[in-house]
Amino acid sequence: MSSSGDELLTAVRLHGRVPAHIAVIMDGNGRWAQARDLPRPAGHQAGMAAVREIVEGGLHAGVEILTLFAFSQENWQRPPEEIDALMSLLEEYIARESDELKAQAVRVRILGEIERLSPAARTAVDRLMAETAEGTALTLNLCISYGARSEITRAARLVAEEVAAGRRLPAEVTEEVLAANLYTAGLPDPDLLIRTSGELRLSNFLLWQLAYAEFYVTPVLWPDFTRVHLFEAIRDYQNRERRFGRVLV
Ligand code: FPP
Repeated sequence: MSSSGDELLTAVRLHGRVPAHIAVIMDGNGRWAQARDLPRPAGHQAGMAAVREIVEGGLHAGVEILTLFAFSQENWQRPPEEIDALMSLLEEYIARESDELKAQAVRVRILGEIERLSPAARTAVDRLMAETAEGTALTLNLCISYGARSEITRAARLVAEEVAAGRRLPAEVTEEVLAANLYTAGLPDPDLLIRTSGELRLSNFLLWQLAYAEFYVTPVLWPDFTRVHLFEAIRDYQNRERRFGRVLV
C-alpha cells in the first residue's frame, strides 16, 4: 500500500466512526474500456480487480458489510454478448476468489433474482454462498439481477400473502415487517453510498435502505477505484454530521 494509503488508513481507524455498511454503485466500466479502445467486457474484467481492492480495503478499515451493485434488472437489456461476458465473469470471479474469500472470513450473499441466472452461474453462486456462510469478518452482498422497486414489490407481496392467509393483521404491517422481507433482512441500512464515474443518480438501487445514507460521488471510473479511494470516501463520511431528520443540540 502507498504511504498515503497507510496514512489515510491510520486516520480512518483513529477516527473510530467507520461506516458499518457501505453500498457501492460500481459505474464506469464501459467508459474505462472505451477510453482505451477496448471492448466493453474488458472494462468489466478490469472492474473485477477493483472488487478485490474494495474487499481488501473494507477488511483493513473494519467495514462490516459491503453491498455492491454488480448487475441490475435493466442490464438484461444490454447486448447478449455483454450479458454473456458478465455472467462468465461472475463464474470466473467465484472460481478465482472463493478460496481467498473463505480464508479472509468473508461471507458472500447474492441479492436479487438469482433464478434468472444461467444454470452454471446459479450453481457457482449457490456453492459460494454455502461455502462462505460462516464468515464473520465481512459480509459481501453482490446485487445481481437486482432492482429496488421490484425488491420492495416482492416484499409487499410476501407480506400480503401472510395477511391473506390470516397469519398477520393489516394493522400489524409495520416498517420493520416490510424490511424483514427485503433481500437485506437482518442487516443494518447502509451508512454510506459510494457512486463512481460521477453520475448523480440512484439507478433503482436500495431505494428503501438508503433513506438516511450519506452519499459520496467520485469521478473515478470503477476499474480505477482502489482501496485508497475507499479510505478517502470514509474520511469524507467521518467529517459529516448525521442528523436523521433531527436537530442536533
Ligand atoms: C457499470 O458500468 C458496471 C456494470 C454494469 C457491471 C459491474 C461489474 C463488475 C464491476 C465486474 C464484475 C463483478 C463481479 C463481482 C463478478 P457500465 O458498463 O454501466 O459503465 P458505463 O456507464 O461507463 O458504460
